[in-house]
Amino acid sequence: MNPIALVFLALGVSLSSATLGIDTIAGISTSGFQCLKSNGYWFYIGRVGQSNGGIDNGGIQNIKNANAAVIAGLGAVDAYLFPCHSSGCASAKQQVINTVNALHNAGAKFGTLWLDVEIYNWGSNMATNQQFILDMVAQCKSMGVTVGIYTNNNNWSNIVGINWSGVSAYPLWWANYNGQANFNNFVPFGGWGKPSIHQYQGDVKGACSVGNVDMNWYP
Ligand SMILES: *[C@@H]1O[C@H](CO)[C@@H](O)[C@H](O)[C@H]1NC(C)=O
Ligand SMILES: *[C@@H]1O[C@H](CO)[C@@H](O)[C@H](O)[C@H]1NC(C)=O
Repeated sequence: MNPIALVFLALGVSLSSATLGIDTIAGISTSGFQCLKSNGYWFYIGRVGQSNGGIDNGGIQNIKNANAAVIAGLGAVDAYLFPCHSSGCASAKQQVINTVNALHNAGAKFGTLWLDVEIYNWGSNMATNQQFILDMVAQCKSMGVTVGIYTNNNNWSNIVGINWSGVSAYPLWWANYNGQANFNNFVPFGGWGKPSIHQYQGDVKGACSVGNVDMNWYP
C-alpha cells in the first residue's frame, strides 16, 4: 500500500475512534441536532425521569427530535433517570416503570436507560441504597430495557460504598470533569475496570446555540 493511503487509513481510524456527544436539559430541535451532528457530536442522552419524581416531557421531545435527526447521521440516542428519594417518591421499580412508559407512550425510541447515581437526597443506609439500585436495574431488565449506571468514584463511595460491585455487569457512564475526552486517570471502583462513556466537562456553552450542555466521549 502506498504511504499516502496509509496516512488516510490511520486518519480514518483515529477519527472513528473518537465519539463525542452531549447531554443537556435545554430544548433542542431536530435542526439543532442536525447542526450538532455537523459539528461532530454523534450521540445525545436526554433526561426523562426527574429527581422530583416527575417526567421531563422536554427531554422526551428532545429524544424524538434527536431520533428524527438520526437520518442526518446522528448516532445513539439514550435516556436517563435521575431518581427521586424524598418521602413522597414512588418506589425504585415504579420510577423505572413511569420513565419507560412515558418514553413508550410518546413513541420516543431510546437505546440505553442510564440510572443517575449521584448525591441528592439519598439516605445514609448503604444497604438500602444498594437495594434501590438493584430494584431499578431489575425493573429495566424485566421491561426489556438496556440499562447503564451514571456515577463517579465520590458519588458511588458516599451512596453505596466505593467497591460495591452489585451492578458492575452494566456499562458505566463516568462523570469526571477533567476536561479530557479520554479514559485516562480513571481509577477503578464499583467493580468497573473501565467506563463506557466519559462525561468530561459539565455545563458548557454548546455548539449550535443549544444552551448549556455536558460534554461526553466514548472510544
Ligand atoms: C457527584 O457527581 C456530580 C457529577 O454528576 C458532581 O458534580 C459532584 O461533584 C459529585 N459529587 C461528589 C461528592 O463528588
Ligand atoms: C477498591 O477496589 C480497587 C480496585 O480493585 C482497589 O484498588 C481499592 O483498594 C479498593 N478500595 C477499598 C477501600 O477496598
